[in-house]
Amino acid sequence: MRRTVIRGGLVITATEEIEADVLVEDDTIVAIATPGVAQDWTADAVLDATGHYVIPGGVDAHTHMEMPFGGTYAADTFETGTRAAAWGGTTTIIDFAIQPVGRTLREGVEAWHAKADDNCAIDYGFHGILSDVGDGVLKEMDALVDEGITSFKMFMAYPGVFYSDDGQILRAMQQAGDNGALIMMHAENGIAIDVLVRQALDAGHTDPKYHGRVRHPLLEAEATHRAIQLSKVAGSPLYVVHVSATEAVAEITRARHEGFNVFGETCPQYLFLTVDELAAPGFEGAKYVCSTPLRPADHQASLWRALRTDDLSVVSTDHCPFCFADQKELGRDDFSKIPNGIPGVENRLDLLHDAVVAGRISRRRWVELASTAPARMFGLHPRKGTIAPGADADIVIYDPGAEQVLSAETHHMNVDYNAYEGRRITGRVRTVLSRGEVIVHDGEYHGRPGRGRFLRRESCGYLS
Ligand code: URP
Ligand code: ZN
Ligand code: ZN
Ligand code: ZN
Repeated sequence: MRRTVIRGGLVITATEEIEADVLVEDDTIVAIATPGVAQDWTADAVLDATGHYVIPGGVDAHTHMEMPFGGTYAADTFETGTRAAAWGGTTTIIDFAIQPVGRTLREGVEAWHAKADDNCAIDYGFHGILSDVGDGVLKEMDALVDEGITSFKMFMAYPGVFYSDDGQILRAMQQAGDNGALIMMHAENGIAIDVLVRQALDAGHTDPKYHGRVRHPLLEAEATHRAIQLSKVAGSPLYVVHVSATEAVAEITRARHEGFNVFGETCPQYLFLTVDELAAPGFEGAKYVCSTPLRPADHQASLWRALRTDDLSVVSTDHCPFCFADQKELGRDDFSKIPNGIPGVENRLDLLHDAVVAGRISRRRWVELASTAPARMFGLHPRKGTIAPGADADIVIYDPGAEQVLSAETHHMNVDYNAYEGRRITGRVRTVLSRGEVIVHDGEYHGRPGRGRFLRRESCGYLS
């Protein structure tokens, strides 16, 4: 048995902050004790955390490694993407296995296992993406829930690609109401957006900035409203992904105050970047094309407020990296052909810590949004998302006073730009343990592909 003690740090969970030592045996946390009590613990390794925070490893519930899109693939593989996640203090990802068009959901899940199983440096789970909802797929959902894939994303956007109509959505929600799955919704009115895209292109408006114009905030709000009503009719919970518009937040807030199990997620790009990035000269705006799109700055206040009131419950990255040089380029003459997505799996914890320093959220809320809440939401808690006896020893020793500058020069994501290039951050990951193993320490990487394990998840822990 291997015993590791983390000594002298401030242990922060979603509910408390205590100066304590943490004892790890093999891959599990076995004890937490105030420093005096822990004096006589024997250990094979002692990690000194004096002056540092000791927090549960990040849980990023929304990533797209190697995702096919518009004839290309998201640039991070499970190997490079989970290594970058580890550098940034994230020790669990949940990626999206896509049902291939005209094929079964099972084939999608098998394809994702083939990509991920020997390549991940940290633990990983899958959501399913439903792209073709019929009797077969609905039945498949039940079997996948039994195998630990307990959440499924659907799209009200992208007609002809991932789009589901309201009848398909209602049926999937009814199924989820029965089998305990959580439906995750990309809520944008894709039919209306496609009309506006066509009109923009016909008028010669091909630049990335038009991506932000055609994907109107009210079309996010309308779809969010519709998804909520459908979920009420179906009697199932709903999780709205990548919420960016004030008007969509208002829909979620109202449903929650009425007592419905409606949850919302936002992402760092909506909290820290604005639609103005899309107007950057020289096609650089393409770096910021994602959907839902970046919004005018005033939307950010609504998102921060909702994160404080828990009307938004989770911050995930929607990490979906496409290189500027040769992938975003596909849409140089037509913004609608720019692969959608922004890299960020490595930067989430640091960006949110910077918000702690700025007084926007508390330290405990930081831990909750980045780790505890996503672990609970997606059936991984208390194994993931907390520091407690019996939990996996996924632990980050975080230096709250260190300064760093985010840059593509120094990041570990396999993409040629950083969306936050040049941003100064207070705080930095010093050490990362994944199931008791030190995989990052003082600027060195000790992880390896294939050490990460597939996580069979339970149903949404917010409902029990
Ligand atoms: O632009 C984005 N968000 N790309 C990834 C796919 C999705 O809709 O989440
Ligand atoms: Zn989406
Ligand atoms: Zn509220
Ligand atoms: Zn996504």
